[in-house]
Amino acid sequence: MKLILNGEINIYYVQTLCMIFFPGCKFGEEAQQDENAPMLSLTLTDTEEGLSASVTVSADGKTASAVRVRPVKEGESRDKRAKMVCGSAIIAACGELLGYRPSWGMLTGVRPSKVATELLQAGVSKTRVKRTLSGEYLVIPKKAALATDVALNEQKIIEHHFSPKDCSVYISIPFCPTKCSYCSFVSYTSDKLLALIPEYLQHLIADLEKTFARIRSLGLRLRTVYIGGGTPTILTADQLRLLLGKIAELTDVTALEEYTLESGRPDTITAEKFAVAKEYGVTRVCVNPQSLCDEVLKGIGRSHTAQDFLRAFEIARESGIHSINTDLIVGLPGDTFKTFSKSFDSILELRPENITVHTFCVKKAADILHQGSQIYSLRGGDAGKCVDYTQLKTQEAGYLPYYMYRQKNTVGNFENVGFSLEGHECLYNVYMMEEIHSIFAVGAGAVSKMVDYRPIEGGKPVIERLFYPKYPYEYLRDESTDEKIAAMEAFYQRQKLLERE
Ligand SMILES: C[S@@+](CC[C@H](N)C(=O)[O-])C[C@H]1O[C@@H](n2cnc3c(N)ncnc32)[C@H](O)[C@@H]1O
Ligand code: SF4
Repeated sequence: MKLILNGEINIYYVQTLCMIFFPGCKFGEEAQQDENAPMLSLTLTDTEEGLSASVTVSADGKTASAVRVRPVKEGESRDKRAKMVCGSAIIAACGELLGYRPSWGMLTGVRPSKVATELLQAGVSKTRVKRTLSGEYLVIPKKAALATDVALNEQKIIEHHFSPKDCSVYISIPFCPTKCSYCSFVSYTSDKLLALIPEYLQHLIADLEKTFARIRSLGLRLRTVYIGGGTPTILTADQLRLLLGKIAELTDVTALEEYTLESGRPDTITAEKFAVAKEYGVTRVCVNPQSLCDEVLKGIGRSHTAQDFLRAFEIARESGIHSINTDLIVGLPGDTFKTFSKSFDSILELRPENITVHTFCVKKAADILHQGSQIYSLRGGDAGKCVDYTQLKTQEAGYLPYYMYRQKNTVGNFENVGFSLEGHECLYNVYMMEEIHSIFAVGAGAVSKMVDYRPIEGGKPVIERLFYPKYPYEYLRDESTDEKIAAMEAFYQRQKLLERE
């Protein structure tokens, strides 16, 4: 797509908005040379009133234009004003050209509920938050209501569970039995690489010993532990016993608010593994179907059937573990509204405590990118209908939306939402997404975030990140844990977090 921009405006923001209307479009040199590429020109001018944005867009021989003006508002920065006025002019012009209204309007970020959260925290009423989202940010009313509900539910969790000395731990197990074709997570699957698991566990346990020891000696309060993947239940029952037994030695697992073993792939789940998990204090597991249509599962190279999922779910129930989560994906290749809604109804009948609905997202590293899909269709085929169905049916069944995020390149530009029965919300997900306390992450690909959510001197939260090497091979040679622990200690002292109540 060709862009002609005049005035002080963030090009990245304009590109992101254009991609909502022209999914998959490129902005590089090649697009500039391509005479059939769509074109958008934007002029931003300072006027006496405030800022004026004028947009003309053309594609396939058609053209549309829009002009929007945003007056100066007390407390609003010029940057924010520029974003709002350019966003509304681009949406108006592209919307007219293509006859399309994007669900999330000009909200392009990872957390669509962020604006709602900020407004609620400033004391704005729920009704006015919804009105602002649809009136100013051009979010369609049902999504404005969803974002507001998520923000309210998240707020309840945050206010109940916030203390400056809180933290959580994430443990990475980046191994899977086979690679699903849509997945871009770094995960080892070949026999040769899976043979590294015993050595990986040893290295991981040594790093966990140091990390948990420092959390204890600093006097931090460990609220949740999340063992994620990959597929943590790729570990044998004995390997799980080794890892979970060690964690139980290093921290009082009975004092945790939540302890998740992500598990994931039904074909790795056994009664013995979940018995070990229960014995060592795990309170939440994920048993993920993605779809309950065998044809769709086959198409995404998932290597298990719907029946395998049902068997694994029953094992999870019989294990007595407190909460079960099931992940599903909307918009998978070959899935239709009919097959998806049938899958979803069957999941609801099982009444898992959490249901997480992702929208299919094509990432550059995923094999499926080369197989063609609905990803680049503007309205995302049946995906919108499926997403609406999940929101309606969960509401009818008494689930609350409590967590939401968006990714780039999702079918129809839709969101990912976590639904929960009351009291079973995944706290780790909220803590991580809302960045309210530090998360110490250990293992290959793990990224720790040290967080001061409410700095003494006011202003935005302070966040610093620490990275472990991405691949298990590199991680096995990594010796950075002492350095990371020193950085974590320095952060806590610098921010005076340990002196606060
Ligand atoms: C980190 S993955 C790990 C879960 C586990 N290994 C499994 O596959 O069941 C977490 C979830 O992200 C979602 N996910 C992964 N790749 C995705 C994609 N390309 N588009 C949408 N959702 C995706 C899936 O629902 C998956 O269960
Ligand atoms: S979706 Fe899950 S099981 Fe499949 S490759 Fe990715 S992490 Fe592994």
